[in-house]
Amino acid sequence: MSFFSSQSLSLRKSAPLTDKEFDDLSTYIYELAGIEIPKQRKYLLENRLRSRLGELKLNSFSDYYKYLKFGPNKQKEVEIFCEKMTTNETSFFRDAKQLGVFRMAVLAPMLQKLKQSGKKQIHIWSAGCSSGEEPYTLSIMLHEMLKMSIMGWRIRITANDISSAMIAKAKKGLYSEHSLRNTSKDIINRYFTKEPGGYLVHPKIKKNIVFEKINLNDTAALKKIPKSQIVFCRNVIIYFDPPMKKKVINSFYDNLVPQGYLVLGHSESLHSITNIFQPMRKPGGIMYQKMD
Ligand SMILES: C[S@@+](CC[C@H](N)C(=O)[O-])C[C@H]1O[C@@H](n2cnc3c(N)ncnc32)[C@H](O)[C@@H]1O
Repeated sequence: MSFFSSQSLSLRKSAPLTDKEFDDLSTYIYELAGIEIPKQRKYLLENRLRSRLGELKLNSFSDYYKYLKFGPNKQKEVEIFCEKMTTNETSFFRDAKQLGVFRMAVLAPMLQKLKQSGKKQIHIWSAGCSSGEEPYTLSIMLHEMLKMSIMGWRIRITANDISSAMIAKAKKGLYSEHSLRNTSKDIINRYFTKEPGGYLVHPKIKKNIVFEKINLNDTAALKKIPKSQIVFCRNVIIYFDPPMKKKVINSFYDNLVPQGYLVLGHSESLHSITNIFQPMRKPGGIMYQKMD
């Protein structure tokens, strides 16, 4: 505890988050991950970090900020801070209507075209994959569509998230019933085994997925991701401010092959961010295509 001033130790427990502390911590998460926490959501930052102050026996958010920036375990703490500041809500087959449109309007014609050209290779990037439900859903969809012929395809799904804890959970592939709330019994029976701790994804669903911790704010790291035909980035850019949104969308554009597709969350759009993509509007969702 010698790291902190005696003055801070005398502060009463659970001191409220001051405006200055909010500014420092919200600026820091923005610098790290591009995540914007508007002032009116100050309560969110306070609620999410309060338990961490307790765990570290710190008396104020200023002490936490000092610990985070200059403490002996700053690397580990930055990781925990990012995890606290992100929303990891997800599920298998999230937004079934949008996935249906994607399957019909994008994936099926793309697979058909690739098959006809004799290039049976597909790479999909799930950016901001949380605990893995989205990339596993995409893998299941490919199995369902290609059936036995999948053996003749080279399939890769790159899945990344800023959170090591989420990536570790994704790699494990063990899920609760809650994660499978939008998944039919049929699919569960075909692609999961019931274990004492939950439902384990079948190795054949796992084998094409490369999970990796990557920060979407790290443009250099994104450049190393192999070219994709499809980028899924659903319910992620909603947490970014306009410049960060633009930066990330530009990275997706650079990563996509010509005619490749970007899929955002159903409530997200590129309107007022960029017009580099061609929107393809369908009832149930917009898909964005790289035209050149
Ligand atoms: C709400 S989840 C969305 C998961 C999934 N795409 C879906 O739609 O179900 C958002 C995810 O984005 C991740 N995320 C937020 N900022 C990120 C960043 N800068 N780099 C990588 N991942 C980030 C979070 O850790 C979180 O797991």
